[in-house]
Amino acid sequence: MTTPKQIVLAFGTRPEATKMAPVYRALAAQPGLRPLILSTGQQRQQLDGALAAFGLTPDQDLQVMTERQTLADLTGRIVPQAGKKLREMGADMVLVHGDTSTTFCVALSAFYEGVPVGHVEAGLRSGDLAEPFPEEANRRLTGVLSTLDFAPTVGAADNLRREGKAERGLFVTGQTAVDAVRMVAGRVPLRAGWQARLDAGQQLVTITMHRRENLPVMPDMARALADVARAHPELHFVYPVHLNPAVRDAVTPALGDLPNVELTDPLDYHDMAPLMAASRLLATDSGGLQEEGAALGVPVAVLRNVTERPEGLAAGVLKLAGNDEAQVRATLLELLGSPETLERMRRSVNPYGDGQAAGRIAQAVAWHFGLAERPQNWGTQRPQAALGSQVP
Ligand code: UD1
Repeated sequence: MTTPKQIVLAFGTRPEATKMAPVYRALAAQPGLRPLILSTGQQRQQLDGALAAFGLTPDQDLQVMTERQTLADLTGRIVPQAGKKLREMGADMVLVHGDTSTTFCVALSAFYEGVPVGHVEAGLRSGDLAEPFPEEANRRLTGVLSTLDFAPTVGAADNLRREGKAERGLFVTGQTAVDAVRMVAGRVPLRAGWQARLDAGQQLVTITMHRRENLPVMPDMARALADVARAHPELHFVYPVHLNPAVRDAVTPALGDLPNVELTDPLDYHDMAPLMAASRLLATDSGGLQEEGAALGVPVAVLRNVTERPEGLAAGVLKLAGNDEAQVRATLLELLGSPETLERMRRSVNPYGDGQAAGRIAQAVAWHFGLAERPQNWGTQRPQAALGSQVP
């Protein structure tokens, strides 16, 4: 028997772990491949929570996180250490995800080591290096180094074609976030306290906000959110606050003392997925929540000026709310004041996948090593109904 190919999944933040968990499972089920996890530990506590939610344990852990780390600090620690570990692990291929510092730095390390890189969630582009910062640069740079690119949508694959990427390494797979949300939503109950609120006729709104480029205006955005909460005492707003101390300092003054705003620690996926599914609206600057909202059929107000996820805008489930205080306030008040608009957004088709993305990725990796047929692309000609939110 030939030895299985060692496929190292490298990640370091919570969303990467969530979206790579289905890929790990699919690789483990693919004959001839052996998945291993290299954690950079970029986000110590948040990553550990996400790993635990999916029952994953890193095989190696670089433990790079420090308090208030700069991007240069992170880069300087990950690049040399990741290369050394990839060598020790006997990596035949490394898979990275999306656009974090971990993604780009591990891809660069692998390139230096001569290990081929597969990029999951490849091809997303906002067209603006300043927004999201530094993620737009991270994903473009990773695209320069990758051998296989797993684009979640046809549009993302087209972005890569425009940048000259060859057809041979390009796969349209769907978003693994859809796979992940399907593994959990509807199977795990909503926290009892939130369920009690729904039972009493209250509705929930989920907020998240953590982007670096939003930090300078985050106190203003928090003030806008506070005004929206004051205008809607019948709604209960749940905001799991990122552990970045700069985020906590920015949002606590405006939002810390309102009776209908619950600031919590970051939630693990088994609490977050049912919360999103039960929400009337998500207000967020996150990337992943845009896809999760679309997959669940829950409207999303995007607290950014541009998004690299235009399919959700076209489908109608996303609405850009910007990051300007007045615009955020006006957009949210308008959405929450119009049940017809929210209902229309909820009925949008999910443009991000059919829940089978991870299987296609595992098959494509096996194909690369001559162990399987090339997988069929997932295409937007087969749009998927959203799972159906659990909003009463
Ligand atoms: C990173 C990603 C971003 C992703 C986000 C998800 C980059 C450049 N950005 O941004 O794309 O959306 O993660 O969370 O990689 N901290 C803790 N404990 C934790 C996590 C963070 O204390 O578990 C603190 C640390 O002090 C750290 C700070 O938060 O210095 C910021 O975290 P970091 O991973 O550097 O960047 P993010 O802004 O979270």
